[in-house]
Amino acid sequence: METVITLPALAQDTLQGLSANPKFLLPRYFYDDNGSKIFQDIMEMPEYYLTRCETEIFSIHQKELAERFSYEKEEFDLIEFGSGDGSKTKILLHQLLEQNIKFRFIPIDISASANKELASVLGSELPDLNIEPQTGDYFEIMQDMTRYFSRRKVILFLGSNIGNFSQSEIASFLRRLEMITNPGDQVLIGFDLKKSPELIIQAYDDPHGHTRRFNLNLLHRLNRELGADFDTSKFVHHTTYSPVSGNVKSFLVSLTNQVVSIPLLEKEFRFKAWEALFMERSRKFDLTAIEHLALKFGFHVVRHFSDQKQFFADSLWIKK
Ligand code: AVI
Repeated sequence: METVITLPALAQDTLQGLSANPKFLLPRYFYDDNGSKIFQDIMEMPEYYLTRCETEIFSIHQKELAERFSYEKEEFDLIEFGSGDGSKTKILLHQLLEQNIKFRFIPIDISASANKELASVLGSELPDLNIEPQTGDYFEIMQDMTRYFSRRKVILFLGSNIGNFSQSEIASFLRRLEMITNPGDQVLIGFDLKKSPELIIQAYDDPHGHTRRFNLNLLHRLNRELGADFDTSKFVHHTTYSPVSGNVKSFLVSLTNQVVSIPLLEKEFRFKAWEALFMERSRKFDLTAIEHLALKFGFHVVRHFSDQKQFFADSLWIKK
């Protein structure tokens, strides 16, 4: 009998991406331990305004956000997709507890270690918090969310993570949100807004080289986990921004004709000189585009919460 070997998702997706024209890799694989550390460096650099703007929004608007979340007074579930270290959410959690609002916090993250860390930090900082962390891919966990249907939900999807989705991924994510929510449930989504193209480019093509390292780290990961032989000195990092589509795109461009072999896939991949490997999109939105998305997927916009410079918006939607 023939044995069918199923490749792990990283191998399957790499095979698909490197066999495509143009070639691509999936940004979700950036976040191994080293990639997560590099992303912390990105968030701390002065050029990467996104995290600071969203923290500012939560600091300024925490009272109103907590009041709006609890508008019906009965207990609800606060569910966060991709909770990470929860640093911004903590501001809201403090405020909700201060206002004596009854809720259960359900942070969902792909990384078990991030979840464990978050639960222990929050456990000691906020002993009254009712927390039930879940580990896994939030697209998969969303399929299984019917068990939270009995309670009202407020779903957080922060940090402009939605900007890393393609148009069709945005549609399937919002369609799932539409399916798992009931009238009166709310979602708060973080969107990075269109602004000076120069500022945007600096955030994604920084002088410290963190974004370059972040991209090249994925090639190192493929070398380590799939036995690939990428020579990272033969690729340069390149970033583009289109003020029309709002898309920032990151590429690794091959400096020479080269062949990369991946023994686990039993394959060799040819790169021509100056061929681009597409790594990531980070879409920037305007408020009209956000409002269209809300309406299209069955929500009303309650309010866009913004920072002083209007660089970023956390948009609060309610299910119709
Ligand atoms: C996680 N995500 C929202 C980041 C962004 O801004 O698109 C990932 C990132 N890529 C390069 N810099 C930051």
